[in-house]
Amino acid sequence: VRDERPIHYRIFGMAKELEREGKPVIHMEFGDPYVEVDPEIVHSMCMSALSGHTHYSQPAGLDEFRERLAEHVNKRFSTSFSPSNVVVTPGSKIAGYLAIRALARPGEKIALVSPIWGVYYALLREAGVEAVDIRTSFESGWVPDEEAVHEAVERGVKAIIVNNPNNPTSVVLSREVVRAVAEIAGERGVYVIADEVYLDFPRGGFYSFLETGYENVVALYSFSKSYAMTGFRLGYAVADERVISEMTRLLQLYFTNVPEFIQHAGMRALEMPWVVERVTRTMWGRTDFLASELRRLGFEFVYPQGAFYVFAKVPSPWRSGAEFCEALIREKYVSPAPGEGFGGYSGFVRFSATAGIEVLREAVERIRSFLEEHGG
Ligand SMILES: Cc1ncc(COP(=O)(O)O)c(C=O)c1O
Repeated sequence: VRDERPIHYRIFGMAKELEREGKPVIHMEFGDPYVEVDPEIVHSMCMSALSGHTHYSQPAGLDEFRERLAEHVNKRFSTSFSPSNVVVTPGSKIAGYLAIRALARPGEKIALVSPIWGVYYALLREAGVEAVDIRTSFESGWVPDEEAVHEAVERGVKAIIVNNPNNPTSVVLSREVVRAVAEIAGERGVYVIADEVYLDFPRGGFYSFLETGYENVVALYSFSKSYAMTGFRLGYAVADERVISEMTRLLQLYFTNVPEFIQHAGMRALEMPWVVERVTRTMWGRTDFLASELRRLGFEFVYPQGAFYVFAKVPSPWRSGAEFCEALIREKYVSPAPGEGFGGYSGFVRFSATAGIEVLREAVERIRSFLEEHGG
């Protein structure tokens, strides 16, 4: 079996190896917000398990939870989804995979707007689906060009994956761009798989693909980022009933269902919007700190608007993100993610502002001395 894991898994492996040797590694390659999960959410999970919610359950998720999720989405986006438009998944990554499997057969094509969370390439490969890249550029602010989207649609893709707000660039697409993409997709009835897991992080408003009114949208959401509940493995998808029912069929086959006590924790979280506020405010503070420090060190990037990543140009003398990251890990034990892992953007590197400010401060100091030692 060929090891086709994304390149940042290799970088992560290097970092882990150094950590095992006792080196003080600072991880900047993850998207896991280091914020404690609200104890009330943990408490509701425990109470649920203690009161016997420890059995097999409905594959699509508890009726009550799907009802709450539909209400949550409807309230936010003025839509009219019902529980049958919702499937609860063990994290949104799986929701993405199930959507791919539901929309395309092996040998068919799905487009993605890149740079994008590299796992999508691996998921497409795993499903035997050909990836059609819609590339964007730093110069255009990482905004997709309408003509390029059009070309992809004309190549007969079954869907377009758009991650907005974006990992790794933290760019938020405007209402106009979202509407234009939906309209172009609509010309051929192509689905949009809208990964909107960072929806709560934009500071200047967010326009969802669900708000376009385009019916062929599969929107993906997660409790991982907004509530810092990465370890709970809880996400959901919203789409038309046909797609939801196919995703549910696959989910039942692979996972049976998301544990009820995890769903109860999610239900409690939905009642606590102040948790989202706390997490997002914390992450903005960290992101602003990191972005302004990196700018001071001379890094160039589009200022993060909607997620907690800084996607910066690789400074000279390094020729690629992988080269930069490997040197930085080896010499300073700081581990960012190379741009290669997000669709082959080898001139870039992604720094995550997920750690606390003190850790980020230490990371910046090490990066500063790294640059100085290399004549920066
Ligand atoms: C863009 C994007 N989508 C989905 C996920 C997966 O999140 P989860 O499976 O924890 O819901 C991540 C995690 O980093 C992500 O960055």
